[in-house]
Amino acid sequence: MQHHKYAVVLAAGQGTRMKSKLYKVLHPVCGKPMVQHIVHRLEALAMDQIVVVVGHGAEQVKNQLGSSVDYAFQEKQLGTAHAVKMCSEQLRGKQGTTIVVTGDTPLIREETLHRLMTHHAETQAAATVLTTVLADPTGYGRIVRNEQGHVERIVEHKDTNEQERAIGEISTGIFCFDNQLLFAALDQVNNNNAQGEYYLPDVIGILKGQNQIISAYLTEDVEDGMGVNDRVQLAYAEQILRRRINEGHMRNGVTIIDPHSTYIESDVVIGPDTVIQPNTFLRGKTVIGSDCTIGPNADLTDVQVENGVSIQYSVIVKSTVRQVASVGPFAYIRPGSDVGEHVKVGDFVELKNTRIGNHSKVSHLSYLGDAEVGEHVNVGCGTITVNYDGVKKHKTEIGDHSFIGCNSNLIAPVIIGEGSYVAAGSTINRNVPDDALAIARVRQDNKEGYAKKLLRKEK
Ligand code: UD1
Ligand code: CA
Repeated sequence: MQHHKYAVVLAAGQGTRMKSKLYKVLHPVCGKPMVQHIVHRLEALAMDQIVVVVGHGAEQVKNQLGSSVDYAFQEKQLGTAHAVKMCSEQLRGKQGTTIVVTGDTPLIREETLHRLMTHHAETQAAATVLTTVLADPTGYGRIVRNEQGHVERIVEHKDTNEQERAIGEISTGIFCFDNQLLFAALDQVNNNNAQGEYYLPDVIGILKGQNQIISAYLTEDVEDGMGVNDRVQLAYAEQILRRRINEGHMRNGVTIIDPHSTYIESDVVIGPDTVIQPNTFLRGKTVIGSDCTIGPNADLTDVQVENGVSIQYSVIVKSTVRQVASVGPFAYIRPGSDVGEHVKVGDFVELKNTRIGNHSKVSHLSYLGDAEVGEHVNVGCGTITVNYDGVKKHKTEIGDHSFIGCNSNLIAPVIIGEGSYVAAGSTINRNVPDDALAIARVRQDNKEGYAKKLLRKEK
């Protein structure tokens, strides 16, 4: 018989201790909202069904997680047991195991969840709690064990007596339950406690009272179960996850010169033999090939970087940089750009929605916006596409093998033909045919001997 696995994610709380407009579970850790980390972990474990309990910020949480999960609504946040009970419609009566995860434990890893479930199955328990031992257990529910070492119940920090407060073993808030026993026990949870809430951890004591097997899986990875209730813990979680991400890349063959100053978000992919220099930020869906040098001081968001690319001191957003291209120092590449193979985008160059063909160069001090540049083009220093007339944006096209002289203004819409030559200092407002020379500047006038006269006058 196939054994069914369900998951409940608790994400209805406001997160008062965050002191934030943003709902707690939506606060990002390494660029990804906490609750999204958890859902991704659960998805990797191939659950039959994932139900997310939403309440505060329900719409925002749903927007974040989308339709890959089911939702239950908890109108009033009466406690974690009450929250799980809101999944009755989806889960009550079903046969199988239900794993409950709080939405504020972003560091929980797949392996740990997997081991918890295995332990639960092996011990044939009605409920298994994931525990760990902390040097400072303040704020967490404590695991109370009997003389034989079996778990008796869980007591919330605010309800502890002095003796219980000294217990170092805590509940991570993550549990496995026999689904049917869970829902039956939820009906018996009351709110006679320090916070006047229905506590999910009370289910443990209730099932124990029914002589059910209660199990605990104690993990030594203390970081895994860490809850994030305030911004101090948020920063700490960020630090731990950052370290894990960086170590993962290093183990896959990426050199990170200084992991402490390298900020790589969760979903970034990097190929082997790429070197990440200090103070580099790789965000969103950025994918980097192999044999690249990224940084120092690179900030890339949703960028596709092919192999052998070098990027220094530059900011790139939603763009592609192709094989062996070089960017920077001090370039700013804005969304919709495509930097071709072997292209050089040099210092103080800004690109926006601009495609640059293979082997072309934009070496210094240029702005190219809404431009289509061909292959083997040289764009001289100080070239500007005049793409905006105050109302609309217009396109500039530059054909293959053309040469744009320094300090040219290309007033769009305009087409510079293939193999053409724009003289330095030109302001081009008409199309240039293929192979033509365009000069659009005032002709120089030399007045013989006149300088001497001027200089004498000044004395
Ligand atoms: C909870 C546990 C505690 C455990 C700790 C681990 C309870 C009563 N306490 O405490 O034993 O050691 O987590 O981090 O379960 N939520 C709802 N609806 C509610 C209340 C909470 O959805 O009515 C959600 C919150 O959004 C949050 C999670 O449940 O994601 C946990 O709530 P929180 O208030 O953070 O509980 P803790 O005090 O940390
Ligand atoms: Ca918490």
